[in-house]
This record gives sequence, structure tokens and C-alpha cells, in this order.
Amino acid sequence: PEAITIQELANRMSERAVDVIRMLMKQGAMHKITDVIDADTAQLIAEELGHTVKRVAASDVEEGLFDTVDDSTDTEPRSPVVTVMGHVDHGKTSLLDALRHANVVSGEAGGITQHIGAYQVSSPETGKKITFIDTPGHAAFTAMRARGAKVTDIVVLVVAADDGVMPQTVEAINHAKAARVPIIVAINKIDKPDAKPERVRTELLQHEVQVESFGGEVVDVEVSAKNKTNLDKLLEMIALQAEILDLKTNSHRPAEGTVIEAKLDRGRGPVATVLVQRGTLRVGDIIVAGAEMGRVRALISDQGETVQEAGPSVPVEVLGFNGPPEAGDRLAVVENEARARQITSYRAHQKRENAAASISGMRGSLEQMMS
Ligand code: GTP
Ligand code: MG
Repeated sequence: PEAITIQELANRMSERAVDVIRMLMKQGAMHKITDVIDADTAQLIAEELGHTVKRVAASDVEEGLFDTVDDSTDTEPRSPVVTVMGHVDHGKTSLLDALRHANVVSGEAGGITQHIGAYQVSSPETGKKITFIDTPGHAAFTAMRARGAKVTDIVVLVVAADDGVMPQTVEAINHAKAARVPIIVAINKIDKPDAKPERVRTELLQHEVQVESFGGEVVDVEVSAKNKTNLDKLLEMIALQAEILDLKTNSHRPAEGTVIEAKLDRGRGPVATVLVQRGTLRVGDIIVAGAEMGRVRALISDQGETVQEAGPSVPVEVLGFNGPPEAGDRLAVVENEARARQITSYRAHQKRENAAASISGMRGSLEQMMS
């Protein structure tokens, strides 16, 4: 349903809001400046005030931005994208750190200086890469999923062997199931004297996660992030699961991706960590994400190195946005700045209207009215 606030309508016509309200009053409707009116009424008012109306549909503006429906050109293999989830303090960050450092060849140990929300690790067996996303809590994951961004191929569910299945463990299970993403269980803190891995497996069963030793299909690995026990095995299991998923992509097209996190950096301006999902992102590309646009000024790898391009499943820091987009925003490369401006100004406008509509409490009832 399309709707607009009276204020916004007046702004767009460069008319005074009181004149709009007066017109509406003539038609027998009393309104405040913050009220939302439907698109047909708005058009009527605009025409009576002598304006020509051009109604733009979302489908026109967003046309061709993401052709995820057509995956027929996705023929190249790509690395799996893995999200680590689990209850607070069960060792997610420790495990990610251990995996990352286990992978850093000696001499490079001091090389990783900055932490970005996503990075790649090579499997010791095959040398194939695995992309890990360190989502800051479940909220981000939920937000991404709610916006239709599917970023993760596999969830590694971390459960501390001394604590067992806890509320956020269950939440993570539900998220993974809702997103239809396979789970690999990492039973962590196996080094602890009070570790009870068998109890973890039993508790998981109560939440319909059936590990292999219980006749199910979910792989579990006993690990210790602290002692770096079984990390290779975990990587191997991830690689195996990825093989089954047979992930494909196309690197020869304009990039599409998802913003993992973004911030306003004092020195560097807006910085977004982006997971490229299809195509190749290059320095100089004109990009849109949410209501923000820009031109890629620099790309920085998870190793902190400047790179010229980033292909599918590669996480990169992107510099050059005019403002920081939001986590979960989808990134697309567009042909020119005019197109980028058209898309982002339309989206910014939609955002304002949605905000205004929900403030005036009209959105729900309007939607009901028009559905
Ligand atoms: P949040 O981000 O707060 O949800 O926690 P987290 O899941 O990232 O846990 P984190 O890695 O911060 O670890 C929590 C605590 O558990 C820290 O004190 C770690 O040192 C400890 N820890 C993590 N892994 C292990 C392990 O394998 N063995 C032992 N003994 N302690 C561990
Ligand atoms: Mg953590």
C-alpha cells in the first residue's frame, strides 16, 4: 500500500501543508499535518493544486538490482559462509579466534591487527577457504533474515560442555532451522574437568537436534578453544558439509552482497564490512546499500591489506560510502551515479514515510484497509 504524510506531500509540491489540509477539509476530511493519506487522495490533491503527478512504484526503482531468481549462470564453486552461534560465554569468540590464529602461518602472527566482523580461514586438509561471520549476537542475524538476506550456509552451534544447552542455544537452533541452514555442533570447553559432552548431546535431542551417535545426521565435534583441541577436525567437518551443499556462484558480473556491519570511522569516514555473495566488487564501482550510496574508494581484506577486488564469499571492508548503511542492507553495484541517486533517494523517502506512518499509528490500519 502506498501512502504519504501530509507534510511530505506538501514538501514535494513545495506547497504549504495548511493548504493541503484546507483542500482535504473541502472534501470533508479533517487532518493534522502528520496524518497519512493514501496515494489516490494525494494524487487528487496534487492535481487540484495544479501539479502533474508521476507515481513511481518500488518495482520500477528496484528493477534488476538483484536477480537472485535467475541463478542459471552460477556455475563456479564458492567457499561456504559459516556463522558461529551459541549461548553467552560458551566460547564463540574464543573459538573464532583460535580458528583464525591456528591458521596464521608463523611469522605472520602479528600480521592480523584489526578485527572485522568476517574473515576467511583455509582448511588444513584441502587448502580450501571457509568464510566465518562473527555476528554480534542473534539480533543481527535475525535482522538480516527478516530483510531477506541469506548470508550463512552453515551454522556452527557452540555449546559449552560444562554448561549444556541454554536459552540462547535454543534460540540459535530455532534461527538455523527457520533459515533452513545445516547445523554443526561444536561441544566446547572439553578441557574442563566438569565437561559432560554426552549430556549436551542428550539435551540437544530434546530440541530436535539429533547427532550422529544418536542415530541422527547432525555432526558434532568436541573441541577446546582454550587448548586448540580438534580445531582441524571442526574445519574438516565444515568443509565436508560445504561439499554436500555444492555451493555455486558467478564471479563475472556486477557485485551483490550484504552489509555485515558498518560504522562511521573518525579518520576513514563510513566503513562497511560487506560479504560479497555474487559477482566481483571493484575499486571505482558505484554502489548502493539501503538508503546509502557511494563509489568504492578502497577495499580492505580481512588481513588488513588493501585489495583491488573481492569475489564471491569474500568479506571486505568497503570505503567510499556517503554514509554508513545498516547491518543486513543488501549491496548492489549500479551503472552510474544517477541511478544510484534515484534508488537511494527513493529508499530514503520510503524510510521516512514508513517512520512517519508508524508514528501516526496509521500504517497498520491502512494496510488492512488496502489489502
Ligand atoms: P559472548 O560473546 O559474551 O556471548 O561469549 P562467547 O560465547 O564469545 O564466549 P568467549 O569466547 O568470550 O568465552 C567465554 C569464557 O569462556 C572466556 O573466559 C573464555 O576464556 C572461556 N573459554 C572459551 N573457550 C574455552 C575452552 O575451550 N575451555 C575453557 N576452559 N574456557 C574457555
Ligand atoms: Mg563473544
